[in-house]
Amino acid sequence: MKKGLFLSLEGIDGAGKSSHIDALEALFAGLGRSVTRTREPGGTALAEKLRTMVLAESMDPLTESLLVFAARRDHVVQVIEPALARGEVLLCDRFTDATFAYQGAGRGFDAAVLETLEGWVQARPTGALLQPDLTLWFDLPPEAAAERLAGARLPDRFESQPVEFFRRVAAGYAQRAAAAPRFARIDASRSREQVWQQVEGVLAERGLLGMHPGSQA
Ligand code: TYD
Repeated sequence: MKKGLFLSLEGIDGAGKSSHIDALEALFAGLGRSVTRTREPGGTALAEKLRTMVLAESMDPLTESLLVFAARRDHVVQVIEPALARGEVLLCDRFTDATFAYQGAGRGFDAAVLETLEGWVQARPTGALLQPDLTLWFDLPPEAAAERLAGARLPDRFESQPVEFFRRVAAGYAQRAAAAPRFARIDASRSREQVWQQVEGVLAERGLLGMHPGSQA
C-alpha cells in the first residue's frame, strides 16, 4: 500500500503559517511528490459552505464544534483519505488541533466532547485515528500576532476576538504540542526567511525530504 504524508499547519491567527504553504508545495513537488493542498474548515464544496457559516454567524460552542467536525468529516472522506491512499503529500492549513485550541481552550468548550467527535470523525477501519504525521506549529506571542493582523483586512469572528482569547488558544496549542510528538514548534517571531529555515530543518530532521521511491523517471 502506498504511504502518503499528512502534514498540518497550526497556530493562532496572525502567526504567519499560511505564507509558507506555497514553499512547502514547491519543495515536495521538487522531490517528485504529488501534493494536495487544502484547508480547514473547508477543502470540499460542502465544507467550504460550513466554513462560511462558522466564520460569520454567532452560535453556541457546541453548534460551532459540530459544524467544524461535520466539515472535517466531509473533508476526510472526500479529500484527505483518498489523497493519502494515492501516496500523496497532503498539506492541510489547520486540522483538529485547531478545534481543541479554538473551541476547547479559546471558547472553554468541553474537551471530552471534542474527543468523542474526533473519535467518530477520524476513525479508520484499523481502529486507529487519522492524525497528521507532522504538525508544524507556528508559535507567536498573541500580542505580536495582533499587531501583524491589525488593519490587514476585515476580521472574521475569530480574528476579532480580544488578545485574551488568543492567549487561551496559544496555551491550548502548547498543551496539545506537549502531548504529541508529531508536533514541531516553529518560532514564528523570527524573520520570514528564518521561519522557513526552521520548517526545512524540521522536515530534514524527521527524514521527510527523501526522494519518493516511485518518483524517479
Ligand atoms: P485561517 O485558517 O486563519 O484562515 P485565513 O488565513 O483565511 O484566515 O481561519 C480559520 C479560522 O477558523 C481561524 O480563526 C481558526 C478557526 N478554526 C476554528 O475555530 N476551529 C477549527 O477547528 C478550525 C479548523 C479553524
